[in-house]
Amino acid sequence: MRITVIGCGYLGTTHAAAMADLGHDVLGMEIDPDKRERLTRGESPIYEPQLDDLLKRSVDSGRLRFTDSYAEVAAFGDLHFVCVGTPQQPERLAADVSQVESAISGLAPHLDRPTMVVGKSTVPVGTAERLAARLAALAPAGGEAMLAWNPEFLREGFAVADTLSPDRIVIGVEDSRAEKQLRDFYAALTDAGTPLVVTDYATAELVKVAANAFLATKISFINAMAEMCEATGADVVDLADALGHDARIGRRFLNAGIGFGGGCLPKDIRAFIHRAGELGVEDAMSFLRHIDDVNQRQRDRVVHIAAAMVGGKLAGSRVAVWGAAFKPDSDDVRDSPALWVAGQLQLNGARVRVHDPRANQTAGARFPTLSYTDSAIEACRDADLVLHLTEWPEFRRIAPADLDGVVARPQIFDGRNVLDLDAWRSAGWTARALGRR
Ligand code: UDX
Repeated sequence: MRITVIGCGYLGTTHAAAMADLGHDVLGMEIDPDKRERLTRGESPIYEPQLDDLLKRSVDSGRLRFTDSYAEVAAFGDLHFVCVGTPQQPERLAADVSQVESAISGLAPHLDRPTMVVGKSTVPVGTAERLAARLAALAPAGGEAMLAWNPEFLREGFAVADTLSPDRIVIGVEDSRAEKQLRDFYAALTDAGTPLVVTDYATAELVKVAANAFLATKISFINAMAEMCEATGADVVDLADALGHDARIGRRFLNAGIGFGGGCLPKDIRAFIHRAGELGVEDAMSFLRHIDDVNQRQRDRVVHIAAAMVGGKLAGSRVAVWGAAFKPDSDDVRDSPALWVAGQLQLNGARVRVHDPRANQTAGARFPTLSYTDSAIEACRDADLVLHLTEWPEFRRIAPADLDGVVARPQIFDGRNVLDLDAWRSAGWTARALGRR
């Protein structure tokens, strides 16, 4: 099919490249000229495993091109996927849906034949119904310009795999023609066994935020348990392993540590709380405030523990921070717990050196006053404390002996519960983690 993808960020670029790879003809719409130029050369604007190859292949095949013109988008495509961002509004819990609104207002006046706009962005429930009416009102094709909602569940670091073999496809439609068209469009994936859930707009919108709320709840649950473990001498990793054997619970997303961050989970649960308030069901959703609070507590606790480990006063201490990205295999530092902790330590007077294998540059752009090093070992020079805050595999490969003569004091804190604390302790280090013996 001939499709367009409006907004070529992390979601749009992956969707555009993957759909071209499946054989569709794709036109990507990106208004940022630098980004568009890079994409046209087949270069991904973000670090994401496998994406560069996929993008290059799709561009080279001639099935993927980019533009900045809505007129060209409307003339080219039969399906238009809206993949723009919906960040948190400054100083508010609510999501900012202005980019989605602009996409509809920019595209609709050019839609003069039967067509379908498919929203993939994460939006507050109720948005699709409003946009469908706006689309029909603005498009010369009127009601023949249909809207569907098709939320995306891809994870950073696994975006390509999650797009090409998703756990499920959810489509919210109000018209059987829209359902048929999307069924045809995704046939390659559903034929390969991907389940397809067809529902209404509101349910489709809710599936996405409910999924993220559930995942956030799982993480905050185990982090709250980590504090119980510390109070009782229990071990949260053993606890999670034992809980995870219960198939009703499952082991995934039960990794205790410094908590969740990124461009999705934190802002999605906040937008959900806000929307629940608008709908008069804030009491039912109030538990999400606790989930957010537990998550923030983890970050605060790390700062307190770090202060205690350097002798009570951060001012003048030297701290090495391993990791800045919100998770490994990503250069994304949006709402990153690692970068937040590094920043707080510095604001409290510590001299902080950060190393992240991929995110030094993105972190530097957001937090230029921190100092960034080219290697994890270099970050540790003369350090009183090493903090392991993003679980890149290469940090796990560092042995205590690699830091002999590098650090000032042999002290390490594992904020992700993946280091072998016994190995560090047997080498003479003080090693601590959250919720561990
Ligand atoms: C998330 C959802 O998983 C995805 O389905 C949705 O489309 C977008 O939001 P992502 O933001 O890429 O994906 O990251 P995810 O893998 O969910 O991790 C989110 C955060 O939780 C990270 O900071 C991660 O370190 C943290 N996390 C995850 C934990 O602290 N413990 C865990 O057990 C799992």
